[in-house]
Amino acid sequence: TGEYDLSKTNIFVTGGVGFIASHTALVLLDYGCKVTLIDNYSNSFPRVFEHMKKLAGDKADRMKFVKCDINDRELLDKLFTEEKYDCVIHFAGFKAVGESVEKPLEYYYNNFCGTVALLDIMRKHKCKNMVFSSSCTVYGIPESVPITEETPLKAISPYGRTKLFQEDMFRDISASDKDWRVLLLRYFNPVGAHPSGQLGEHPVGIPNNLMPYIQQVALGQRDFLRVWGGDYPTPDGTAVRDYIHVMDLAEGHVKAVVGVLKNAEFGCQAINLGTGKGSSVLEMVQAFEEASGKKVAYQIMERRAGDSVEVWAGTSKAEKELGWKAKYDVLDMCKHQWAWATNYPQGYDTPQ
Ligand code: WQD
Repeated sequence: TGEYDLSKTNIFVTGGVGFIASHTALVLLDYGCKVTLIDNYSNSFPRVFEHMKKLAGDKADRMKFVKCDINDRELLDKLFTEEKYDCVIHFAGFKAVGESVEKPLEYYYNNFCGTVALLDIMRKHKCKNMVFSSSCTVYGIPESVPITEETPLKAISPYGRTKLFQEDMFRDISASDKDWRVLLLRYFNPVGAHPSGQLGEHPVGIPNNLMPYIQQVALGQRDFLRVWGGDYPTPDGTAVRDYIHVMDLAEGHVKAVVGVLKNAEFGCQAINLGTGKGSSVLEMVQAFEEASGKKVAYQIMERRAGDSVEVWAGTSKAEKELGWKAKYDVLDMCKHQWAWATNYPQGYDTPQ
């Protein structure tokens, strides 16, 4: 983090025991931060915090958890009255594209209204530093790659619209009040697990995302992977994405907090967090087979509606503005995810 000393900072983390937040909080502790995590457990588990405390060891005394919904203004107000926070990292939100088509109102209420409530309380307590979990979904179906921060924005699902609306709101707020410093982090495809194999992703129900599904096939929990489309204009005919290790994302958030805290002129900026490298579905299958030593059976199916051919990030802004670059490759992602999968085949429901 350069010359910036994070050890006196107090960070408020929403969605704090979710997949990306749980990994990020541990890295924040490594840098000396104090962290308060809130979560309503809508897509997470109390047990995550137990795993985090074990991994944090002595540092766990700088971390606390409060069960809280971001729409609960009363409780948020109480928490911001009890302690002064230097920055908020706002992870909380629903994130399934398909589900958002079925339940748009739930998505707008949770993601959008929840963010309005949070910002209102932050403003009241004069905490105006924010790192926000955005997504490459705000680029819609991009016309070309790499996707840079200047690529036009377009939402193609209710979920995507909630992210885009939140981004727009941050841009409006920052334009109206220069005290706000907001960093919109647009993640590409987060995968992998903590290298210890003690923390990872636990999708509820049938996974929509590729890597959790591959994991379940390798564990023998599902028969085969359905590969959505084998006739894309790519070298092996399957779609290409920019998979990024969750620990690299976690490190990116720490750099983002530093960027926001040390730069008064920050305003509101968007930065891509990806590796800058694309991998096809079949390349991911192969990497997972190599990492696990298991066969991952698959069948090529029709394309999935709304999917892009090829998505990967331009990463020069993250390098220039944050001094951040992804370190892990897809084999590392698969190895760490496999360690987590074999330790906890039912995720946080695995009997202890
Ligand atoms: C990856 C590739 C699938 C499952 C989604 C959201 C996006 C962002 C990241 C949050 C695609 C293929 C998948 C399967 C398959 N999320 N696939 N069989 O679609 O790139 O992005 O997650 O903001 O907004 O849209 O990720 O993991 O679903 O798919 O063949 O069973 O794997 O078609 O090419 P995606 P994904």
